[in-house]
Formats: sequence, C-alpha cells, structure tokens
Amino acid sequence: MKLPNGPQIPALLQMVRWIANPMSFIEACAKSYGEIFTIRLERNSPPMVIVSNPLALQQILTNDTKELEAPGDRLFEFLLGKHSVITISGAEHQRQRQLLMPPFHGESMRNYSQVITDVTQKVISQYEIGKPFNIRSATQAITMRVIMQAVFGLHEGTRAEKLQHFLGEILEKASSRLIVAFLFFPALQRDFGPINFWGKQMRRQQQADQLIYEEIRERREEPDSSRTDILSLLMAARDEAGQPMTDEELRDELMTLLAAGHETTATALAWALYWIHKLPSVRQKLLQELDSLGDDPDPSIIFKLPYLNAVCSETLRIYPVAIATFPRVVRTPISLGGYELEPGTVVLGSIYLTHQREDIYPEPKQFKPERFLERQFSPYEYLPFGGGAKRCIGLAFAQLEMKLALAKILSSLELELVDNSEVRPRRRGLVTGPDRPIQMVITRQRQVRSKGFALIPQPLLPDLGEGEPEFQNPSPRYGRGI
Ligand code: HEM
Repeated sequence: MKLPNGPQIPALLQMVRWIANPMSFIEACAKSYGEIFTIRLERNSPPMVIVSNPLALQQILTNDTKELEAPGDRLFEFLLGKHSVITISGAEHQRQRQLLMPPFHGESMRNYSQVITDVTQKVISQYEIGKPFNIRSATQAITMRVIMQAVFGLHEGTRAEKLQHFLGEILEKASSRLIVAFLFFPALQRDFGPINFWGKQMRRQQQADQLIYEEIRERREEPDSSRTDILSLLMAARDEAGQPMTDEELRDELMTLLAAGHETTATALAWALYWIHKLPSVRQKLLQELDSLGDDPDPSIIFKLPYLNAVCSETLRIYPVAIATFPRVVRTPISLGGYELEPGTVVLGSIYLTHQREDIYPEPKQFKPERFLERQFSPYEYLPFGGGAKRCIGLAFAQLEMKLALAKILSSLELELVDNSEVRPRRRGLVTGPDRPIQMVITRQRQVRSKGFALIPQPLLPDLGEGEPEFQNPSPRYGRGI
C-alpha cells in the first residue's frame, strides 16, 4: 500500500499543530502535498488521509457502509453520550437519524420562524446605543434561547434557566483548546485535584443531565399531545419495530441537538455580522434588499432573498465552522485519488481546504457573496454542512436561523465594528471560531422604509426559480448529487 504523501515530522508534533492551529497546519500540508495527503496524530494510530478533491469527496461521502464506513465519533462521547447520533454507527445510526429528522422538516420548521424572530428581537433590545459589546455573546444568547425553545418548547422558568446556565458553561469550556488536549490524550481525563478541569466539567454535566431527565420524567407522567417541541416529537416517535426512544437515548439526542445547534450557528452569525460590517458595500446591498420588503416581511420571503442567501453562503465558505466532515474508515481496500487505501485507514473530507480551492473559488481569501449569484457549486465543492450519511441534520434550521436573525438585526439596528482590524479563524474546541472577541457598537436604531422604496439593482436578483433555495446548489459539475 502506498499512502498519499504527508509531513514527516513526529506524530506528536503533528498532533500539537492539529490541536493548536489546524487550519494553518492543513493549509501548509496542502501546499506541499496537494489535494490528498496523510497526517499521523499518534504513533500507533491509523494514518489519517485528508481529502479536498471534489471527486474524491463524492466517493467518500456517497459510499457509506460499503467500502467506507462512518463510525461513531468517540471524541464526542464525553459530552453527548453513547447513544448520540454522532457517536453511533451503522443500523443504529440510521434508526436514530430517522427518528430525529421529522422535527427538522416542513410544518415544524415553519413554527421556528416566529421563535427566531422574537428571540432575536428580545436579545438585541438588551444592548444600549454607544456601548461596545462582543457580538458573539449576543449571537450565542440568540442561538441558545432558540434551540432551548425548539428542543424543549421553553426558554424561561427555573429549570430552563438553570439548564441554559449549565449548558452555556459546559459548551464554553468545551470550546477551549485545553479540552481538545484532554480529548486526544484520554489519560488526562481524570480529576486532577486543584486544577480539576475535567472533574468540574463532569460535575456540570451531571447537573445538566439531572435537569434533562427531570424534564423527560415530567413529560412521561403528564403527556400533552398539543406540544410541538422536538422533545415531544421524539417521545412520540417510533422506529420501524414500533419502539420508542429510551430515556438515555432521549438525553443523548437532546444534548446532541443543544450542543450541535447552539455553538455552530452562533459562530456563523457572528462571522456574518463581522463581514457585513467590515465591507460597507456588502452591508449596503443587503440593506437595499431587506428594506425593499418593508415592515414585518414574511419569513418565507426573507428565506428566499438571493443576496442574503449569498452572504450566508459566503460566510460559511470562507471560514467554515466545521473544518472537516466526521471521519470515515476504510472497510475494504479502495482506490482513492490514485492511491490504494487499506482497511483501517481513516479518511477526512476537508471542508476548509475545499472551500479555499483557487480553481473553484478565485481569490479564495476574499469575502465575495457575488460568487454565489454568478455560479452554482456542487455538493462536493461547497459542503459547510458535510454530506452523505452524516450530513448535518440541522442544515435547514441553521439556514433559517441565520437569515431571520440577520434580517431582524440589520433592519432594527445600525451597528459598527469597534476595531476594523482583521479577525482570523482559530480552533474552538472541536470546531472553529473567531480568534478574538469581535466588538461592535450600536450607533442608532433603524427605521424600516416602506415596501418597494429601496429596490436592489437588477443584476443582484437572478431568477433562482421556484424551488426552496439551499446554501449549496445541488447541481454538480463533477458528477452525481447526493
Ligand atoms: C451553521 C451551523 C451549522 C454548521 C456549519 C453545521 C455543520 C455540520 C457538519 C459539517 C456536520 C458533519 C457532517 C458530515 O460529517 O458529513 C454536522 C453534523 C450534525 N449537525 Fe450540524 N451544523 C450546523 C448547525 C446545526 C444545527 C442547528 C443542528 C441541530 C439543531 C445540527 C445538528 C447536527 C447533527 C445532529 C449532526 C450529526 C449528524 C449525524 O451524525 O448523522 N447542526 N453539522
């Protein structure tokens, strides 16, 4: 077997670079070794092949369970448990996914629109004109309340507030680079007396679990068929054998949705607000488009706005929150990108490197929403939500939340960046985020102009047809769509 080339430095050093600054590490590797290369994070662990070629990505993302399997990602088990859709694999994974998907479709999605708009309004009304604040704290407050409301049907009341408090702390600590070191070196996962980082984290988690189990128990004792929140839908769901989810499964899936749905979208929203205010022409075009809708526009119209869609797409292209898909493991020998890979080899689709390809995205370091109006990208050229068997369950939810929250914020407030210097991405736990707080300030409240007053110039409004627009357009140049 000849593996793709890769750095020859010791595995421990590769691990340190992977933990400290994964983007610059893989960018340097891609420069030296191209669109498929091998890294080693531990001396005795399997090699990890990193891929950023759309054809190879298509192969790995459409091949689940045959030659390449998506195993459960054990790194997340400390937080999400053994039954989370993220930590399980095979038939069990498919079963859980089927049970989880309905709350993220159709009517359920429409119910979330009002929640998103109301929560955003409430959160932004707490900030004062002229007082700088960290925009990520604001977007975190929005996404936490929205996900609590969607998952439990409540974000107020003692239990909800306590749960938000513990979850906020757990996820904040889980975002540190320190925790990544704990995860990659399991020997560290013990109570270390006064330092006690891991022990404290586990205790917070037990407290959050206790609150989640209390909520589940109460719902079982007093079922209410009129409730439409995700917990109620999951409790009523049955698998093909007619079986409901157990309490442990429910706890793990709720924790999964809270964790996956909160941090990711908060970061994406913070980046979007950064770019919109960094680049005045982007803000101006966006405001023209939003103002043309007048007061209180319908959420479904906001969702379909072409320039808003392009801004959100570009935000997730340039600095994707997840830099890679979940790992896939080779089960039977395969040929990938001209290399023969043996069983046991781990393969990662690099979302970040694919989005930085000069041949697909000319001037990839520039924030240019227009590229999403001028061209269509295949699901293997543009994949901020991954793809295949593990594709993000919350994709439509996140898109809706980003667009409605941005529309609300931009229509209500004039904001400015306090400091116009560049913000770069860095590791935040197992995902990425801004490398420093992005301080913004409200300069004044905005008055939305009446409908039709400010029209966006025609070239920005291509005919996208009737279908529900997605961030990525499913019209592949390299081959068949998912
Ligand atoms: C901007 C926001 C988000 C981004 C960028 C994002 C990105 C991703 C990515 C890249 C994956 C891995 C896909 C793969 O390996 O192919 C994923 C999986 C997942 N996401 Fe998201 N996500 C976001 C928001 C959400 C939200 C709002 C939820 C739920 C409320 C959610 C729930 C999940 C779940 C449950 C999985 C695991 C799916 C599985 O294992 O089968 N995500 N997400």
